[in-house]
Amino acid sequence: MSFKSAPPPGTADIFPAEVASWYRLESAARKVFSLYGYGELRTPVFEYTEVFKRGLGDDTEVVQKEMYTFEDRGGRSLTLRPEGTAGVMRAMLNTEVMNGIEQRVFYSGPMFRGERPAAGRRRQFHQIGVENVGRMAPELDAECIAMLMHFLEECQISGSKLMINTRGAIADRKPAEDALKQYFTPFISSMCDDCKSRLERNVWRILDCKQEQCQNPIKNAPDVVNFFSEESKNYFKRVCETLRNAGIEFTVEPRLVRGLDYYVHTVFEISHSGLGAQNAIAGGGRYELYLPDNNKPVIGVGFAAGMERLLMVQEALKVSPPEDPFKVPVYLISLGQAARDFNMKFANELRKSGIPVIAEVEDKSMKAQMRTANRINAKFVLICGDSELQQNILVCKDMSSGEQSNLSPGDAMTFLKGKI
Ligand code: HAM
Repeated sequence: MSFKSAPPPGTADIFPAEVASWYRLESAARKVFSLYGYGELRTPVFEYTEVFKRGLGDDTEVVQKEMYTFEDRGGRSLTLRPEGTAGVMRAMLNTEVMNGIEQRVFYSGPMFRGERPAAGRRRQFHQIGVENVGRMAPELDAECIAMLMHFLEECQISGSKLMINTRGAIADRKPAEDALKQYFTPFISSMCDDCKSRLERNVWRILDCKQEQCQNPIKNAPDVVNFFSEESKNYFKRVCETLRNAGIEFTVEPRLVRGLDYYVHTVFEISHSGLGAQNAIAGGGRYELYLPDNNKPVIGVGFAAGMERLLMVQEALKVSPPEDPFKVPVYLISLGQAARDFNMKFANELRKSGIPVIAEVEDKSMKAQMRTANRINAKFVLICGDSELQQNILVCKDMSSGEQSNLSPGDAMTFLKGKI
């Protein structure tokens, strides 16, 4: 591929034949989420940079290293959204959510993170996400997880693994962080550079570091739940009970902390063995998200699934690909200018009656036009030349059986309507 035709690293073109699989994910999302009372929300792909800095937390890796930030002509700092939750919460401030009136929304679209591209890791990737905003109850957290499992089922994705954990309430953070800092300090000189800076900046993140040299100290780290209040422990217990009642299998993973700072209480992630190193297909949790000029956080629970990764899992599981919605089943062959004039008009009549058609517009031989019909995999061709025009007929050829019949234009339309 030449330099000019390749898109920038970490991005991809999605061609018409692949788009069918994306439609299928989106319609599964619309179907399942609407069963739980969620409506679709579309927010801008860029926001004021502060929305993400404040929303996700200044110390997160996404904010520190991965954002695409630029200045507009008015000197405002804007950022391409690295995730959906912060922008959705900004939009939610325009609703009754701060008065405790629950909002249920879902979204899908491109997100942007300047990460090192790898299999399943892109710089422009797509998420389908859900947010239940304005209320707090362990049952809502469990319902949100159940809805994610329902969505995966609708996408015919089996064999995924659900891991959950709790990050406790904001008030639980300090004692847990102090204990973690105290524990990791004697090991830190042998740990990776990222963990060295995490010790002061964001000690929780050490817990899900994947570097080999950090695994031993991480394995024996104290269980942070021990430092949480009884209230927080009970909240998590209730989430687990509700999931069990719903028959949802899960593993409690004490090292699961998630990479964004807004999480409180329940956090969860779904992984799938059909993927490589980037094996998380979805993640989420409960949050208290602060926005610029807002001293009270927006509360909610939600998740996002990576669409590229869902498609990779479907492929690994050999879920049959959907029909290409853009395949054109009828091709009109014209021999001579008068036939072409007729066919251009007839093609429009066929389209208006719902039959997708391509009509040849250039003066080409019969052989060349048949080659085109084969290339586009046409099911039927209609052939029109001078003698067909004189008799007011078209030759209709079934490309799979090779059968041919002479039909009037009206009969050809009725025939094709019955077949397509
Ligand atoms: P996240 O875990 O950062 O959470 O992303 C969710 C999912 O997006 C991941 O599990 C993964 O499937 C996909 N993903 C993330 N980064 C990439 C990438 N570079 N390339 C391909 N796929 C990727 C969030 O974004 C939160 N906003 C989720 C949430 C919603 N929490 C509460 N509400």
